[in-house]
Amino acid sequence: PCQTPKGTCLESVKIAIDTGYRHIDGAFVYFNEHEVGQAIREKIAEGRIKREDIFYCGKLWNTCHPPELVRPTLEKTLKILQLDYVDLYIIELPMAFKPGDAIYPKDENGKFIYHETDLCATWEAMEACKDAGLVKSIGVSNFNRRQLEMILNKPGLKHKPVSNQVECHPYFTQPKLLEFCRQHDIVIVGYSPLGTSRDETWVNVSSPPLLKDSVLNAIGKKYNKTAAQIALRFNIQRGVVVIPKSFNPQRIRENFQIFDFSLTEKEMKEIEALNKNVRYVELLM
Ligand code: A2P
Repeated sequence: PCQTPKGTCLESVKIAIDTGYRHIDGAFVYFNEHEVGQAIREKIAEGRIKREDIFYCGKLWNTCHPPELVRPTLEKTLKILQLDYVDLYIIELPMAFKPGDAIYPKDENGKFIYHETDLCATWEAMEACKDAGLVKSIGVSNFNRRQLEMILNKPGLKHKPVSNQVECHPYFTQPKLLEFCRQHDIVIVGYSPLGTSRDETWVNVSSPPLLKDSVLNAIGKKYNKTAAQIALRFNIQRGVVVIPKSFNPQRIRENFQIFDFSLTEKEMKEIEALNKNVRYVELLM
């Protein structure tokens, strides 16, 4: 996995909080949760924010799906963050890898070693973490409709997923999943809302760069905004939460300047029509 240069994440999160960001999307597998936690704690100590102003999302990795591993894994994240709860904890992917120290366990032929687990049992362990107060809300990520239905239809369901984090941007607008989630009061959190960093090790770069799109740029000109700001505004205006990633102070601030204008219905339709139904993040595993 690509790892952030030491200290970059700490600085970026502090700048983000100063800018006004409150929702921070993290994960154990980003290997920078200690820096995120430190940034949050420093900003609380400075008196700039209170813990309850922050909305931190953590993620349960594929090697930790067996129900007995769920709580210890969340506790490990809390220890790394040095926080006593997270606001949201989500199952990062709907399939499991073999438990152990290897984040991407592979066999001698280089093939991923999967692990048979029952997503519903994993979900029940997530519910127990909420009941224990370690997390305020629980959700999922990269789940399709059938996987969501499996949880929603689980006998004895105690807490339903509040959100589903999936790839979502003007080239991959997710109309069907969005409609399904709306019907079930599940918030869509859109990752890669700017079309990713185009890192060829995990991105399908045969799909064209989102931010070069002529429609997004033309609409941007009208409002004196960038294509990035138009892409973000498009999603929030249709009720999709966005989690843009940037380690650049100027772009961190730019991505927050999206609350002082709105797109017309015609522009929203024009942007919706850009949908290519092609993912940048194929998650071939
Ligand atoms: P950087 O960290 O140097 O700003 P996504 O959120 O879709 O995953 O996209 C992240 C990528 O987009 C990163 O490479 C990030 O680089 C870049 N990026 C973030 N904000 C902007 C922006 N406002 N304009 C152009 N590129 C951006």
